[in-house]
Amino acid sequence: MSGGEDPAGFATLSDLEASARAKVIDPVWAYVQGGAGEERTLRANREAFERTWLRPRVLVDVSSVDAATSFLGTRSSVPFFVAPTAFQGLVHPDAEAATARAAASAGVLAVFSTVTTLSMEAIARAAPEGPRWFQLYLQKDWSLTEDLLHRAERAGYRAVVLTVDAPVLGTRDRQFQRGFALPSDMPVGNLPPLPPVEGRSLAQAVHAALRTDSGATWATMERVRESTKLPLVVKGVLTAEDAARAVELGAKGVVVSNHGGRQLDGAPASLRALPEVVRAVGSKAEVYLDSGIRRGSDILAALALGARGVGIGRPVLWALGCGGEAGVAKLLRLLREELETSMRLAGRRSIGEVDSSLVEADGALP
Ligand SMILES: Cc1cc2nc3c(=O)[nH]c(=O)nc-3n(C[C@H](O)[C@H](O)[C@H](O)COP(=O)(O)O)c2cc1C
Repeated sequence: MSGGEDPAGFATLSDLEASARAKVIDPVWAYVQGGAGEERTLRANREAFERTWLRPRVLVDVSSVDAATSFLGTRSSVPFFVAPTAFQGLVHPDAEAATARAAASAGVLAVFSTVTTLSMEAIARAAPEGPRWFQLYLQKDWSLTEDLLHRAERAGYRAVVLTVDAPVLGTRDRQFQRGFALPSDMPVGNLPPLPPVEGRSLAQAVHAALRTDSGATWATMERVRESTKLPLVVKGVLTAEDAARAVELGAKGVVVSNHGGRQLDGAPASLRALPEVVRAVGSKAEVYLDSGIRRGSDILAALALGARGVGIGRPVLWALGCGGEAGVAKLLRLLREELETSMRLAGRRSIGEVDSSLVEADGALP
């Protein structure tokens, strides 16, 4: 079936990216796809999965499998969640409302960015029952940060995900080369408009610099933790040292992530960093991973290396660009089906049975 005949806009996970490419305009595609610098880290994220192999066990009764789990006490039908991505309105007019509805119908946790097209209240209204977490970018003005936290509590978000790998934006060469810019008056649902800036368009780095606090430290993390009743998850750690510090200071979860290769070029693949983080904090906090997850088998590999769950970034934007809510719903269904098939073929009936004996790597991962 060609992509156009399907309301989701794609038929399989294999044609999702190319179908999205055909629909999303060039500069926005550079924004979605691009990494930082030479994109070494972006490539390493995929290479790490490509060099990790699954050791299947056979003759296990897999007539029924169960992929359900929980994240900080929130039940989830699957061990993956929607990672926060900014400005979903750039790829589809229904923006985060479509993502929220598709995730809620599938019983999938969705994490929404500080810099969404729609406000966090509008997203909550679009899918009141859907499990949702709020991703925080620290604002220059602390009272704005505090206000975001209180609004997230009131709007039914169940955890705060503090992103710590973006004190400044990475060097986004690909965005620059393709002329991607944000209008200076672009609506950011959660935040007041920027003061008038010369020239109407801003590189994303300038936009981010005008809003976010690059002076944050561990003391700021503690201040965030003290300012909300919600559990705190720290997103964007790649070392045992930082993971241990975050958990000592009260984080209930950490996301091993290099921001999809968009921040520090030269940082390791998330999958490579995962084992040291699991060793450091795996018994005290929940460890999640994102960056490079594309298939059900990737999810199994990350879980086998100790992740409790994994975040999906770009594929959600591809699916949203292809077919709005129907696109995201199809992506979540295909990923779930593929994960369950992989579990059956690997002889694992539940998430609890996915252990380290399931994986083997070709040497050190990139
Ligand atoms: C277009 C785009 C926008 C993003 N915006 C945010 C954001 O606002 N906040 C955040 O914490 N992470 C953001 N991320 C990073 C994702 O949460 C996630 O770490 C990354 O996309 C995972 O890698 P993957 O795209 O390979 O799945 C963004 C990623 C992309 C691709």
